[in-house]
Amino acid sequence: MSFETEIINEGLAKIEIPRVERLRGPGRKSRLPFYNPLMRTNRDISVLVALATLSDRDTVLDGLAATGASGLRIALETEDQLAVTLNDKNPACHELITRNIERNGTTNCSVTCEDLNSLLSTGRFDLVDVDPFGTPVRFIEGAMRATTDGGIAAITATDTAVLCGSRKKACIRRYGSRPRRTEYCHELGLRILLGYIARAAAKFDRGIEPLLCFSTDHYFRAIVRVRKGARKADSTLEKLGHLHIQRLERELLPETGVAGPLWADAFLDAAFLESVRLPSYFPHKVSKLLELWREEASSPPLFYTTGEVAREFLSEPPALDRIVGALRDEGFIATRTHFRPDAFKTSADVETIGRVLRT
Ligand SMILES: C[S@@+](CC[C@H](N)C(=O)[O-])C[C@H]1O[C@@H](n2cnc3c(N)ncnc32)[C@H](O)[C@@H]1O
Repeated sequence: MSFETEIINEGLAKIEIPRVERLRGPGRKSRLPFYNPLMRTNRDISVLVALATLSDRDTVLDGLAATGASGLRIALETEDQLAVTLNDKNPACHELITRNIERNGTTNCSVTCEDLNSLLSTGRFDLVDVDPFGTPVRFIEGAMRATTDGGIAAITATDTAVLCGSRKKACIRRYGSRPRRTEYCHELGLRILLGYIARAAAKFDRGIEPLLCFSTDHYFRAIVRVRKGARKADSTLEKLGHLHIQRLERELLPETGVAGPLWADAFLDAAFLESVRLPSYFPHKVSKLLELWREEASSPPLFYTTGEVAREFLSEPPALDRIVGALRDEGFIATRTHFRPDAFKTSADVETIGRVLRT
């Protein structure tokens, strides 16, 4: 298949990509190898996670590699000698990945052109990256089985409208979970994805420990450590719950509620986030996100927008810094959240938020 190409720089890699008009938002299927510049952040984060968690001779699978951008960057930008497999079932991708490996002079990459699920049914890897068009559900069981004990599974979902409750029935079908369209639906959507991953892992006597799970641009990303053992699976399932609401008050509890089942425990690992070191050439966007995640990691689940609390307590929307500062002054946990620039997380109840707003 012949098509025009161009060479771009991303991280430390030079990547040959098809020369096409690029639209914003999630990618669409095409016969041409896919490259989305907006997903650079996603690949930056994959490199960060590889830097923080992998060591010599660990194995990496970039399962849906397209141009090979993500796996190639992991091979180039980590000092350890990793064994990186770049896989894509599209033969045009296979050709382009092979050229990209040669262009960058990487000696620790291999290319395969298989259906990802067949690769996951036989191979075992210390890091499995799954970055599909749309929903990742058809690859999640395979990814849970193919990740080594203590290894990392990194799963992207771009079906955010489904997970956020715009297409309720599709969410129930795909993820076996009831979504809810709310101000905080992105956090619920991410938790539904994580809940699905947790249940898939448990089927194979595995548990998960979320390291870094987030929402940005048009996608969700769940990066989790996978642990083998029935006990790990049982303790993982204990972390599932449902959303309960009473007027503005919102909680995640084990009993059936208005949304769920979903992951009711932490989705950011504070110790892991502290251990992450940013390479100097990384974009500012990643350091801003890391700063927010580090702050948010100490907060309880769910958040309030300043608009919501203003409506409830008939006030002007408070400045975010003012409400966060005032709640902290009273001894509560209060932080910003990466989900929305106009929202805060807090351990204070709604009544206390109202009192603090009025003072
Ligand atoms: C969204 S793109 C991946 C983008 C890439 N990870 C990046 O960062 O640039 C999804 C890729 O998955 C490939 N793909 C889709 N279904 C597949 C399957 N069952 N097995 C292997 N590859 C598949 C497509 O050919 C496409 O290249």
